[in-house]
Amino acid sequence: MEERRASKRCGGVLPFIIGFLATCVLGWAVIPGLFFDKVEQPVWFSHAVHVDGQGMDCESCHYFRDDGSYAGFPTNEVCAECHAVDPEEAMEAIAEAGIDPSDYDAIMKAEIGAIEDNLASGDDDMMAAEREYVVKYLIQGKEVPWLNYQFQPDNVYFSHAAHKDMTIEDMAELKKELSDVVDPSVFEAEEFPEQNCNLCHMKDIHLNDVPPAFQRNILSGYSKMTMKMWKCERCHALKGQPNACYTCHK
Ligand code: HEC
Ligand code: HEC
Ligand code: HEC
Ligand code: HEC
Ligand code: HEC
Repeated sequence: MEERRASKRCGGVLPFIIGFLATCVLGWAVIPGLFFDKVEQPVWFSHAVHVDGQGMDCESCHYFRDDGSYAGFPTNEVCAECHAVDPEEAMEAIAEAGIDPSDYDAIMKAEIGAIEDNLASGDDDMMAAEREYVVKYLIQGKEVPWLNYQFQPDNVYFSHAAHKDMTIEDMAELKKELSDVVDPSVFEAEEFPEQNCNLCHMKDIHLNDVPPAFQRNILSGYSKMTMKMWKCERCHALKGQPNACYTCHK
């Protein structure tokens, strides 16, 4: 009897501590992760292959239209400059081979000459990715639904044009004040890049060979990488820019 009571007392504290620690781990480490789904970009597109390898400028794919609006992601029209598979010819060849044009696997297996003879890639992995892009999107006349890591809710108004004259060099003097907003290492480059994308986007995404996974909040559908309101406001306050609600919410 005596013994049982003693062990009970001891057993009362330990489970409490274990339970407390487990709750902490769940709350801090596990549960926040559960709210995010990792989604891959629809096509393996390598910035390294195109920027470093092909010497392309950012502006070939990410540019302002003549009316000042931002084109954002590139369309097939840009890619077709080099990925010169003729969609009409390819679709005809697919029909002749008796393949359903939406049966992508069958098209890829059939080794259609109008496609295979016009692929640009030098090695097998790249060729597989390029073939997938060509078969699923380019010849079908479908744009790639690229995932926007910075995807903002509809009620937020953001304009690249409003930020186009802002440079990393200008912001470098605010390195300390902006340390929660912009990764401080962005300001430590020996020579500042002309592009200011690193101030808001994932650092150096243009050096990537593999696009990072998009982390989607399973409740809201929004991206984990989206710039939070306080970050926009912090920089605006430091730069004497307006922070009235209607500046960013229309
Ligand atoms: C051949 C076209 C092409 C070129 C050239 C190119 N990009 Fe991209 N860029 C893309 C595509 C496609 C995506 C979307 C898929 C991905 O993230 O890889 C993208 C995504 C991005 C994003 C992420 C946008 C988001 O959703 O947050 C940034 C930032 C970016 N590019 C910066 C650059 C910079 C800087 C350069 C020049 C050094 C550059 N890109 C050159 C095609 C291009
Ligand atoms: C300036 C010419 C050029 C443009 C424009 C271009 N590509 Fe490419 N792309 C190439 C070449 C060349 C290769 C093969 C590179 C190699 O073998 O080293 C390639 C390879 C690829 C590959 C396989 C390697 C990888 O990145 O995964 C894919 C997929 C691809 N391109 C998609 C696209 C898409 C999508 C666009 C438009 C957003 C585009 N390309 C625009 C020239 C271009
Ligand atoms: C001041 C912050 C900021 C800077 C600087 C910036 N971006 Fe963005 N970018 C954003 C935000 C915020 C979004 C999301 C907009 C939305 O979803 O409405 C975005 C979206 C994008 C998108 C995808 C969606 C689209 O179609 O607009 C691309 C591509 C992109 N940016 C490329 C770039 C490139 C390339 C640079 C550098 C030349 C750059 N951005 C500089 C904040 C910025
Ligand atoms: C790193 C600093 C920085 C960040 C981050 C930033 N901005 Fe800005 N923003 C500026 C500056 C500087 C200007 C003024 C640029 C100019 O006038 O040349 C500006 C201007 C604007 C304007 C135009 C204001 C007007 O008077 O019409 C809007 C809208 C805006 N930002 C929205 C946003 C939103 C939304 C975000 C977050 C997703 C954001 N900004 C993030 C620095 C920043
Ligand atoms: C400099 C730009 C900017 C200004 C100024 C601004 N917002 Fe926002 N707001 C954002 C962005 C970006 C988001 C989306 C990202 C997020 O949820 O943090 C947002 C999201 C929100 C949301 C949704 C929050 C959520 O988590 O879903 C509310 C509500 C909101 N803002 C209210 C306001 C009010 C009220 C004001 C004025 C006091 C204001 N905002 C000023 C940029 C701004």
